[in-house]
Amino acid sequence: MTILVTGGAGFIGSNFVLDWLSCSDEPVVNLDALTYAGNRANLASLDGDARHLFVHGDICDRDRVDRLLAQHRPRAIVHFAAESHVDRSIHGPGEFMRTNVTGTFTLLEAARGYWGTLEGEAKAAFRFHHVSTDEVYGSLKPTDPPFAETNAYEPNSPYSASKAASDHLVRAWHHTYGLPVLTTNCSNNYGPYHFPEKLIPLIIVNALAGKPLPVYGDGQQVRDWLYVKDHCAAIREVLARGRLGETYNIGGWNEKPNIDIVRTVCALLDEMQPDAAGPYERLITYVKDRPGHDRRYAIDARKIERELGWKPAETFDTGIRKTVRWYLDNQPWVQNVLSGSYRDWVNTQYGSAEQGA
Ligand code: NAD
Ligand code: DAU
Repeated sequence: MTILVTGGAGFIGSNFVLDWLSCSDEPVVNLDALTYAGNRANLASLDGDARHLFVHGDICDRDRVDRLLAQHRPRAIVHFAAESHVDRSIHGPGEFMRTNVTGTFTLLEAARGYWGTLEGEAKAAFRFHHVSTDEVYGSLKPTDPPFAETNAYEPNSPYSASKAASDHLVRAWHHTYGLPVLTTNCSNNYGPYHFPEKLIPLIIVNALAGKPLPVYGDGQQVRDWLYVKDHCAAIREVLARGRLGETYNIGGWNEKPNIDIVRTVCALLDEMQPDAAGPYERLITYVKDRPGHDRRYAIDARKIERELGWKPAETFDTGIRKTVRWYLDNQPWVQNVLSGSYRDWVNTQYGSAEQGA
């Protein structure tokens, strides 16, 4: 038995592969195009491990995907590969349409062809697990109930629109062709190997470098934060026992305004690596808001708890402490990332390298 993971060199995908192989000996074929967000160093601990096969390739390459499926005959595809950063989608939506929409379409068609060749138990057991986001539901008002699986789709950014499109394709391939699919819509993840273009790692990295900590707008936008290993555990549960064609929302019951997140990270750094120049909060800098910035996300994760018994193991306090500790203990990983194309992106987004990480 084998699973095919796409995007397994990215933040969540690499955590998933590491987590999977720490609980099981079932091999993983890991297909990743190694865009700016893909980092082989995330998987360095698997070097020489025969259970992990890394394949450098694109999910839009149908021949490549067909060959991989025919060769490795996986019992499941877990699809993480995507362009994932909202700000980048605003600057350049094209890649988001290509990978998130066309890439998912290509993968679905390849999976459908492969699934059609399976018989009996292998056919019944096959799963296509699509990893998606809570952003497809749009933005909540302060008193709205959290997103349930029945909420209407109201994506607001090119990123969330591309993910919503991919969710619809997955749904249609189930209803029309019977492809055995599962979709999960998760809230904001944080933890090890998070690329420092996203809020939490950016704040840690900039603070340690004595650089401004950019807070968009008034900093009162609310996100629901989930420790990445809890997301990985939830995906394992849904893959094992989720009902076919269903969607499951995954979240941490941790709604927090961005400014509180930034202050919490600063306080932990003050404790773990104090700066002689003074508390890290002094670096907080309010900057121009993200266009079309969604005000609030919150997840109602009762369905996955009720049906599959999954609940997050970490609270925000325990998860964020582990995360800050991980970044302090893994400075070579951080420096490796910072010396790459990330620096060019920071220049585009923040105007000058001085303001970025
Ligand atoms: P990421 O940007 O860190 O990693 C994406 C990975 O996909 C990279 O390794 C990249 O090289 C690879 N990739 C990109 N285009 C590809 C292509 N055409 N072919 C093959 N590989 C390609 O993303 P992430 O934060 O780990 O997110 C993973 C998935 O989870 C995405 O689908 C995202 O929408 C979803 N998600 C993310 C979050 C979050 O908070 N980060 C929350 C909910 C859902
Ligand atoms: O909700 C799930 C989504 O979470 C995932 O689908 C996306 O892939 C993932 O990137 C994340 O999207 P966000 O836009 O919420 O994450 P980001 O870390 O970019 O921003 C978190 C919040 O912090 C958001 O309100 C914007 C704000 N922010 C972000 C950056 C990078 C800042 O205030 N300053 C910053 O410099």
